[in-house]
Parts: sequence; structure tokens; C-alpha cells
Amino acid sequence: MCGIVGYVGHRQALGVVLDGLRRLEYRGYDSAGVALLDGSGGLAVERAAGALSNLEARLAEFDGDRFEGTAGMGHTRWATHGAPTDRNAHPHRDVAGRVAVVHNGIIENFAELRAELEAAGVEMSSDTDTETTAHLIAAAYTNGSTAGDLTASVSAVVRRLEGAFTLVVTHADDPDRVVAARRNSPLVVGVGEGETFLASDVAAFIEHTRDAVELGQDQVVTITCDGYEVTDFAGEPVEARPFTVDWDLSAAEKGGHDYFMLKEIEEQPGALENTLRGHFHDGGIILDEQRLTEQDLRDIDKVFVVACGTAYHSGLLAKYAIEHWCRIPVEVELASEFRYRDPVLGRDTLVVAISQSGETADTLEAVRHARTQRARVLAICNTNGAQIPRESDAVLYTHAGPEIGVAATKTFVSQIAANYLVGLALAQARGTKYADEVAREFSALAAMPEAVRQTLGTVDQMRALGQKLADSKAVLFLGRHVGYPIALEGALKLKELAYMHAEGFAAGELKHGPIALIEDGLPVVVVMPSAKGRALLHSKMLSNIREIQARGARTIVIAEEGDETVRPFADELVEIPAVPTLLQPLVSTVPLQVLAAEIARARGYDVDKPRNLAKSVTVE
Ligand code: F6R
Repeated sequence: MCGIVGYVGHRQALGVVLDGLRRLEYRGYDSAGVALLDGSGGLAVERAAGALSNLEARLAEFDGDRFEGTAGMGHTRWATHGAPTDRNAHPHRDVAGRVAVVHNGIIENFAELRAELEAAGVEMSSDTDTETTAHLIAAAYTNGSTAGDLTASVSAVVRRLEGAFTLVVTHADDPDRVVAARRNSPLVVGVGEGETFLASDVAAFIEHTRDAVELGQDQVVTITCDGYEVTDFAGEPVEARPFTVDWDLSAAEKGGHDYFMLKEIEEQPGALENTLRGHFHDGGIILDEQRLTEQDLRDIDKVFVVACGTAYHSGLLAKYAIEHWCRIPVEVELASEFRYRDPVLGRDTLVVAISQSGETADTLEAVRHARTQRARVLAICNTNGAQIPRESDAVLYTHAGPEIGVAATKTFVSQIAANYLVGLALAQARGTKYADEVAREFSALAAMPEAVRQTLGTVDQMRALGQKLADSKAVLFLGRHVGYPIALEGALKLKELAYMHAEGFAAGELKHGPIALIEDGLPVVVVMPSAKGRALLHSKMLSNIREIQARGARTIVIAEEGDETVRPFADELVEIPAVPTLLQPLVSTVPLQVLAAEIARARGYDVDKPRNLAKSVTVE
């Protein structure tokens, strides 16, 4: 939530910062702003409500040298405190206009800080929590033991803050440096030749360097063109972990596709391959960062899966696989509910936290709660070194690459695969599956990238169908067994992208209420179980389709190739490859992703940036 970029180097900072913001716009697009240090005491700030293009248009009105300078920063906002207006857009400044601050997160004690500042006669010029920090930093830079030292001034102020924040700060009197601090919000440093970057996500600087540095919790970093220095909030130097970004710029570009989401849907076979690669070795499953022993895994007697949104839907699928393979009870819980209901956890409980960003505040807090109860935590994450994996006992990274479209697609299928790897690792450690069975299950998983590739053959059909369904008032989704989470996911995608009423139901529940919703012409998407693998469920689902068809529903049926029994009941039949039952979600989700995106497009919406949403949700 909110994208941040900082730069000090040899280039004109404005271009670097705007390019970086463009790549971070998925993190929020309520407003955007930049601050540039001109090197001789000038600090220029421009901000605009709405998308980054509004800011660019405003900047284009200036010519001359107002926005020249080789140090600066920028922000793209997802509003928390204060409406998405020019007035509340970042950067925020102190009264004298010498300090500029951009912020991602929420400062929870801002009301108190604001009251203190107002009592001292400071007049606020925005409704944000962020502005308070600009005034406090300006005061610290002017008076007392931190006077004239921007890093020390920032450290002194962040020690007073509560909540989640990444703050990036510039001071006109200190034009060769940019200082940042982080707690519970992401920040990475990019290290180039004679230039240094700061960003919420490496995507912002990948064009310039792949050498990055991960910042830890409660750390302050100062960048100059010669490099960076990291301290803790008390000002003590700390070692930061360098890493190399393993994907390049092309991964973060549209590459000829109409929108990122479509590109990312088509990247799903590769994302699956990369997620599975290297995890079967010497006849067994291996995880990435394993700080749990085999004995720890053997002792696990209960699994909780915690996640939000689409990641939660992948977690629902983990339950089917882990209970089936490992014979241990699995509960799947929305991370936002988990810690508030006093779940029963202990040393032998494994909490699997799924989060593509690794930043989601609800999931992070669920992890922290689990750890205070002594449970072990395994993270499934798509972002190297994010906070959730840092605070977990074991990690399995999904190597889906950058996902720019706000709606999760390739990270979703990668999470499903990662869940299954966890299930197999547990089955192997607990001895509920023999080595040859684990090897067989893994090779079935390893065949899925090809099956997903074949499923991409449905893209054109779904795009055409999306155009036809664009005027529908609502769409229902039905599934059974592993098709049920996919029905939920299909409905979520449609809601978030097309702003259309959509609901997913377990088909068996239909007669217990939802069937009352069926009316003439209502589109109902049905995810059919395998005719061979789940014959009983298949026949029950056929009855369900008959029931809704009899009441006028327009049926869109996702079924295995060759399933002729279903043809008479399908107003639109979408054929997917026949694969083992537990793996069917990896293919059945693909047409539903395309359907949602295409309905949204037909209704004139921005598929990659749905309204009110941000890619990573760092507030509860
Ligand atoms: C929907 C979507 C969200 C995320 C959810 C969790 O398409 O992307 O529902 O799945 O916000 O995000 P992560 O996985 O980053 O924790």
C-alpha cells in the first residue's frame, strides 16, 4: 500500500523517480507526488490527486529548471488518513518548506503528535498522519543534539512513532542524501554505480540495478551517491543483507499484452515451473529456508492455514491436500479473524501463512500471534526477504516473478503448488506417504505447467464470453470439493475487477438458500468435478445444473475434455484438460481469471488497477 521511491546519483532524479513510481503504481493510485533537491538549497515539490498521469501532466506545465536535481523521491498513494485530494497527497512538508516526507503505513499515535504540534502553534496543511513527521523532523534538525544531522533527526522522530511506516525524508539543507526508516512496511535499497535507490519494491529500480539490500525491522538507512549506511532506531550501525534480484525488467513490462493481468495469466505455466523447480531432490521434498527439524515436522499434530483474499482461497485447497496426504487436521482461517478469537495453538501446531507480498498486515499479525503461542510458522511468499518470511520458522518461496496486476493470478496458482509441496513434505516427514508415493505426487505436480499451458487455449473463448456477459447484474459460481474454493475465487475476481455482484457457493448448499437467487438469464458458472476421478460428485453436480437450468439460469460449465454427459446442460461449455482431482484447481481457475478480466474490460474498467484496491495491504 503506497509506493515509495528515493534516489541519489548522477542522473536527473525526476525521470528516475517517475519511472520508479510507474512501476509501483499497483501499490496505490489515489494520488502521486515528487520532491526534488536541486543541490543548492532548493526543494521543489509537486503533487496531484488521482493517477500518476495527473502528476505527469502537471509537471509538464513547468519548463525551466524547477525540477532539476540529482536527489529526490516520489510517492504513489493508497489513502488511509484523509481523502485522496491534492492537499493530502505526499510529499508533505514542514512549515518552512525545508523538509519533505513520503510515507507508507499508518502512524497510530498521530492524533497525539498532531495535538502536541498544534499546541506549539504549528498549522497543519493536510489531514494526514504523515504531515506530523515532517514538522517533528524539521524541529529535530533545528534544535538539540540532533541539530544539523538528518539521519539522527529521523531516528529521534521514528522512536516516537507507533504503527506501521516506511518514511523517506529529504532536507533542503542536506541535498546529497535521502534518509528512510522502516517498521512493518517494506523498503529495499538498490545499489548502482555512483547511484543509490530506495523503493517499496525492487521493481522500481530493476531497470538500473539488480543489486539490492534488504532492510530489517526498525532500521534507518541513509543513501548517498556513494552507497548506503544502515542503523537501528538508536543509531547503532547494523549489517543489512544484500541479495541479487533474479528477474529482469521485461518481467515487469506488459510485453505487447493489453493489460498486465492477461500477461500474468499467460505466465502461469512458467510461474508453476519456477515454483516447483529444485524442490524435489534426492528422492524427497525440500523447502527453501528450513529452520525446523525433521523431528519438528514429525511432531506436528495440527495445521492452521492463515491468509487473506485469494491467498486464503489457495489455503482452502491446502486443507484438501494436507488432510488427505498427512491425516492431520487442518483449519483454514482468514488471517484478519485468527488472532481475535483465541485459537488453540501449541508447540506442535504448524501455522502456514500464505502471502504473495509477505507484507499483508493481517497475515503478519496472525504470524506474530502464532509465535507468541509457541506455534511453528511456515511462510509461503513471493517476495524475497519480506516481513512474513523473516518472522517465520520455515519458508517456501513461490517464484512467480513480479505480479503487477492488482488481482492475483500467477501467484495464486504458485501458492496452490507451494501448499501441495508443504503437504508432501509433511507426509514424507510423518511417514504417511512412502517415498515412491511422494515422488509420484510430485511428478503429477510437475506435469501441471503443461496442463495449464493447454488451458490457455480457452483464453479467446473466455474473452468473447466476457464481452457477452458484460451487462449482467450478477454472476454466481458453483463448485464442489476442490472446485468450491475455485468458485469462491472466481467470484472474488469478478467483484474486484468488474465491480459486479458475484457469489461463490458450495453446490450442495444451493438448496439451502441460494437457489432463491436464480432467475431467468442469470449467468451461473459451474466448476465440474472430474467424471472419472469423482464420479459421485460429478453426478450430484449434474443434478445441480439441471435444477438451476430448470429455473432459467444461463449455465457456463467448466468441465474436463471429453465429459459429454454435461454438454446438454451447458449453455456454454469450457473444456479444460483432465488432470488428477487435487490438481484440477490449477487449470479450472484459468478461464475464470480471464472471464473476470474481460468482463471488467468490456465495462470500461482498468483491469490492472481496480478501484479502491492496492496490491499489498499493509494496514489492518
Ligand atoms: C485478489 C487479491 C487479494 C490478495 C490478498 C492477500 O486478487 O490479490 O485478495 O490475495 O490481499 O494478499 P497477499 O497474498 O499479498 O497477502
